[in-house]
Amino acid sequence: MHDFLRKLPKVELHLHIEGSLEPELMFQLAKRNNIELPYATISEAKAAYQFDDLQGFLNLYYLGMNVLRTEQDFYDLAMDYFKRARAEGVVHIDMHFDPQAHLQRDVPLNVVMAGLLRAKQEAEASLDLSVGMIMAFLRDRPADEALQVLEQAAPYWQYLDAIGLDSAERNNPPRKFQALFARAKELGLVRVAHAGEEGPADYIAEALDVLDVQRIDHGVRCLESSDVVQRLREQQVVLTVCPLSNVSLKVVEQLRDHPLPKLLAEGLKVTISSDDPAYFGGGLLTNHMACADAFGWDADLFCTLNRNAIEEAFTNEKRRAELL
Ligand code: HPA
Ligand code: ZN
Repeated sequence: MHDFLRKLPKVELHLHIEGSLEPELMFQLAKRNNIELPYATISEAKAAYQFDDLQGFLNLYYLGMNVLRTEQDFYDLAMDYFKRARAEGVVHIDMHFDPQAHLQRDVPLNVVMAGLLRAKQEAEASLDLSVGMIMAFLRDRPADEALQVLEQAAPYWQYLDAIGLDSAERNNPPRKFQALFARAKELGLVRVAHAGEEGPADYIAEALDVLDVQRIDHGVRCLESSDVVQRLREQQVVLTVCPLSNVSLKVVEQLRDHPLPKLLAEGLKVTISSDDPAYFGGGLLTNHMACADAFGWDADLFCTLNRNAIEEAFTNEKRRAELL
């Protein structure tokens, strides 16, 4: 099965590019930019990646990305991941990125966008890897800041496929961002949001009702509400489930306890993603192999999950037909 999964052309809908920053590249960029890291060695960094919850991870995630300063850094970050993913058989990635996390550190939006867009164009031209762009907003920051950043991004709207909502979920309900998502809809942008990762099932319903999202990132806690499950099933809303992320952040204790089989039994439109591969123990292939080992899934099931992802991927119909 592992060999089949390696060869399967895989599509990933939920990936934070800043969460693909491997310690090796983090050390290189720290040196290049004269930045002191809180870790003495690469292995010390890796050893620190033990989390109790989402906030514990986010603290190190924001710390790690501090090495990203120049356009070249953002290009190197994305290209490093794209090459690794392609070598694991990934053919399409919908990539979240967090502009506010960079603006806060006085890294301008044009630096972030120029680097990421150059990597995307190069991947599409030379790696046979297509890339969707999801500008994500930090839900633990003020809503009016998010709106300002979306307006500031006007020169880049044409390059965006969607906006997303990430960072600390608890006590930051979707409704806080009603105006932001309404504006994105007005601009013709698709909307997606993290919901039901650490937050309650209600947040999933609220993301659908108030933010009019097309996808739910994570969504695993939907199982706490039969109404929410029914709704997700009826509308076939795609869930971008990230198994190893959920284990790392203790959303579940171990992969064998993961609700993935239950989500499938409920008839939901499930897909598999890696979320933050540098922090959670591996990329899309590793997530697939771990599911094969934990759940004994067959090739047909993996093909179904991957087809779900292809149907929902932010790409044009020509590329979708190639991927199907
Ligand atoms: N959840 C919420 N916010 C995030 C994540 C995540 O898994 N990764 C990066 N930002
Ligand atoms: Zn995520």
